[in-house]
Amino acid sequence: MKKPEDQLLVIFGASGDLTSRKLVPALYSLFKRNVTPEKFVVLGVSRSELSDDQFRRKLGAGVQDSLGKGINEEQMINSFLERFYYLPLDMANPQEYYRLVERIDVLTTGLSPVKNILFYLSTPPVLFGPIARNIGSCGLQKETEGFRRIIVEKPFGYDLESSRQLRKELHASFEEKQIYRIDHYLGKETVQNLLVMRFGNGIFEPLWNRNYIDHVEITSAESLGVEGRGGYYDGSGALRDMVQNHLLQMVGLTAMEPPSSMEADSLRNEVFKVFQSLRPIREEDVSKQVIRGQYVASHIRGELVPGYREESGVQPESRTETFAAIKFYIDNWRWGGVPFYIRTGKRLPTRVTEVVIHFKPTPHNLFRKEETCMTGNQLIIRIQPDEGILLKFGLKEPGSGFQVKTVNMDFHYSDLRDVHVPPAYERLIHDAMTGDSTLYSRADAVEESWKFVAPILKAWEREPGQKIYGYPAGTWGPQQAESLIENSSGWRYPCKNLADDGEYCEL
Ligand SMILES: NC(=O)c1ccc[n+]([C@@H]2O[C@H](COP(=O)([O-])OP(=O)(O)OC[C@H]3O[C@@H](n4cnc5c(N)ncnc54)[C@H](OP(=O)(O)O)[C@@H]3O)[C@@H](O)[C@H]2O)c1
Repeated sequence: MKKPEDQLLVIFGASGDLTSRKLVPALYSLFKRNVTPEKFVVLGVSRSELSDDQFRRKLGAGVQDSLGKGINEEQMINSFLERFYYLPLDMANPQEYYRLVERIDVLTTGLSPVKNILFYLSTPPVLFGPIARNIGSCGLQKETEGFRRIIVEKPFGYDLESSRQLRKELHASFEEKQIYRIDHYLGKETVQNLLVMRFGNGIFEPLWNRNYIDHVEITSAESLGVEGRGGYYDGSGALRDMVQNHLLQMVGLTAMEPPSSMEADSLRNEVFKVFQSLRPIREEDVSKQVIRGQYVASHIRGELVPGYREESGVQPESRTETFAAIKFYIDNWRWGGVPFYIRTGKRLPTRVTEVVIHFKPTPHNLFRKEETCMTGNQLIIRIQPDEGILLKFGLKEPGSGFQVKTVNMDFHYSDLRDVHVPPAYERLIHDAMTGDSTLYSRADAVEESWKFVAPILKAWEREPGQKIYGYPAGTWGPQQAESLIENSSGWRYPCKNLADDGEYCEL
C-alpha cells in the first residue's frame, strides 16, 4: 500500500456507531502500518457537544475494543489520536456551515498547508443530499488546488426513484469522479480474489460459461437477528439491505466479462453491463421466482430466541422480509440459460457468505453403478468468515472397484500467516485516500440494481397472492426456498439447522 498525499478527512456522523466501530479502527490500522498520509488531520462533525479531548477519548475506547483485551498500545493510540479534532454542528442547517468552513480553514492552513479534503458521510441517509448540497454552497467541493472527494455510506436510496434523487443531489455539488459509494463487500479480500482467480489464471476462465456451469449460487447468511436495529430494519428488509447492493455486486464480479484493464472505469463498465443484462422479473412471476420469509421464535440449543415481530422497534404485524431467495437469469452470450440463485437471511444457522459455482456433470457417467460423486464439481469461494477457496471433485476410493468419493482441495487465507489481510473498511478508505474508485459503486450500476429489485418490491407492496413464510430462527429459511432450485443438488448448506422447535408457517 502506498502512502496517500497529505489530506484532511472530515467525518460527518463522527459520534455514531460506524465511526467508532469501523472507520477509526480501520484508520488506526493504516496508521500503524505507516500508510496514512504524512500530514493527516481528521475533523469529526456531529450534533453531540463534545470537546476535542472527549472525542479522542471516545474514539480511543473504540480502537481499544477493536484490538481486544490484553493488547496495550496506549502510546501508539494517543499519538494516532493527536490528529483528531471535533466540531459540534447541526448538519441539516445550512446556516451553521460557516463554522465548518472556519474550522477547516484553521486546520488546513499553516506552515505546510493541507490542500486535499476527503469527506465521509456516515450519517442517517436522509442527510446525504443536504450535506452534499451544503458543502457545495460553501464551495468546499471545488478542486482549485487539491482534490475533493466524498465517500457515501449505504443505503444509496430506498428504491429506484430515491436513488435517482440522491444521485441528482450528489451531482449538484460533486462530479461523479469525486463520489465514492462504499459497499464494504467489495473491500473484502476474497471478493477481489474472484477477479484474480478468474482473470489471473488460465484454467478457470475457459470453463466460466454456460457450456460448463450448471448454475451459480450465492449465499449471504447471518446468524444474528436485528440486534437493536429493529426500527431501521423494519423499514428496509433483506431485499433492500442485502440483495440490491452486496449480493448483486457479487453477482456482477462473478458474471462480468474480462475488463480491458484494472482501471476503475474499465472494471465498473463490465459490472454495469452485467446489471443491464439481468432479465427483469415480471411482477406476475415474483411469487414463482422469489421467496421471502421472516423468522419466528424457536429454541436454539435450549435457549429461546424471539421471533422478528417480537424484536424491539418492529411492528407486531410486520411483513418485512428477514429472508429472501431469488432465481434469475443473465441474458447474454456467456450466461444464456444458466440460473443464478441468491439468498440472504437473518437468524440462519451460521454466519457465512459464499459464491458456489456448480459445474455440469460429465456427459456420460462411467461410474454410475458404484457410489458416485452425485453432487457434481463445485468451486466454493468463501467470502466470510473463514475466507478461502474450495474445489470439490470426485476421486477413487482406495480398494477394489470404482467407488467415487467427493474430496476437497482448499486454500484458507488464514494459512498466509505473514500476510496482513486488511479488513474491508481499511482497504476501501485507503483506496479513496489514494483516488482509486475501482471497488466503489458507480451511480449507473446502483440504478440498474434498483431497477432489478423494483418489480419485486412493487409486487410485495401490492400484496395479493404474495406470501411471506415464517421460518424458525436457526434454520436455513422457509422450506419453499428449496423448490426454487430445479436441480436435485439443492442449496449448499454449510451446516445443519439449529432450531429445536418453532414452526414453518405462512404469515
Ligand atoms: N453501523 C453500521 O454497522 C453501518 C453499516 C453499514 C452502513 N452504515 C451506514 O452508516 C451511516 C451511519 O450509521 P451509524 O450506525 O453510525 O448511525 P448512528 O450511530 O445513528 O450515527 C449517526 C450519526 O449522525 C449524526 N447526526 C444525525 N443527525 C445529525 C444532524 N442533524 N447534524 C449532525 N449530526 C447528525 C449523529 O450525531 P449525534 O448522535 O451527535 O446527534 C451520529 O454521529 C448510516 O447511513 C448507515 O446506514 C452503518
